[in-house]
Amino acid sequence: MTPHPAQRVTREAPAKINLNLLILSRRPDGYHELDTLIAKISLADIVTVDITGHNHGISLHCDDPAIPCDQSNLAYRAATAFFEATSRPASCHITLKKDIPSGAGLGGGSSDAAAVLHALNDLHNRPLTTQELAHLGAAIGSDVPVFIHPWPIARCTGRGEIIHPVKLELGFLRTILLIKPAFPVPTPWAYKTYAQLRQADSQKLSATTRTCHLPWGELRNDLEPAVFSKYLWLPAVVEWLQQQPGVAHVRMSGSGSTIFALFQLGADPQQTYNRCREKFGTATFTRLCEILES
Ligand code: C5P
Repeated sequence: MTPHPAQRVTREAPAKINLNLLILSRRPDGYHELDTLIAKISLADIVTVDITGHNHGISLHCDDPAIPCDQSNLAYRAATAFFEATSRPASCHITLKKDIPSGAGLGGGSSDAAAVLHALNDLHNRPLTTQELAHLGAAIGSDVPVFIHPWPIARCTGRGEIIHPVKLELGFLRTILLIKPAFPVPTPWAYKTYAQLRQADSQKLSATTRTCHLPWGELRNDLEPAVFSKYLWLPAVVEWLQQQPGVAHVRMSGSGSTIFALFQLGADPQQTYNRCREKFGTATFTRLCEILES
């Protein structure tokens, strides 16, 4: 049976890339103080939330069988947080149609969680403000608040939950190529390894961090040396991509395992995409997409 339209909300949950990721310090709570430039991109999951009968509780279905449908799913936790915060009986069914790979540094789980918070708020006549939704989101994960706010590009500080909108003239730099191998990188592991390397030799760590110069500043991802030290496929892909004609800059997104490339003016990104498919095969996720308009 198709539910009444007011009982269902469907939202696009976009992925993100980190154009820049600076780690400033280790915090007493175990997190790291960040300064990161996040851009939302045209790759997206589709999140549908249905209001169900009173005794239903929360249920979740995902079209990717590798993704858990229980409390460990951030979308599920978002629904729990919403019902707790609004003192309403928990009752909804969440459907996730995944296009964003997980363990990829693309924020898929966080974006799904933000979409669930917005959908439930809309279905209940908006009892919470955007700030309150962002606050709930921050307790679910550091990357959730940026997806609560509408801005396509934002500078995020604190542990990532303090959001400042940014306007960038991207022009031809809007097109990006994503490459993600079949393996994920666990985010806690990436930060832990970064902290160990920094403690062992912070000067060496700084010296091995690649920077690139773009019209809006010097960009780097401080997690790259830590992640590249174990996942050797990633620096090999970076090197290969940097040698391709028309490629301007290559970076890792978040804690990986996605590598993305930006293109020079007049480049042919489709040709680079085709070469990638040929070189890395279909087990590697490869996608051409756009940074969303700011
Ligand atoms: O906030 P979230 O649960 O997504 O973070 C996952 C893990 O990544 C944390 O448990 C922590 O180990 C690490 N992290 C960090 N500093 C941040 C964000 C995440 O150390 N600013």
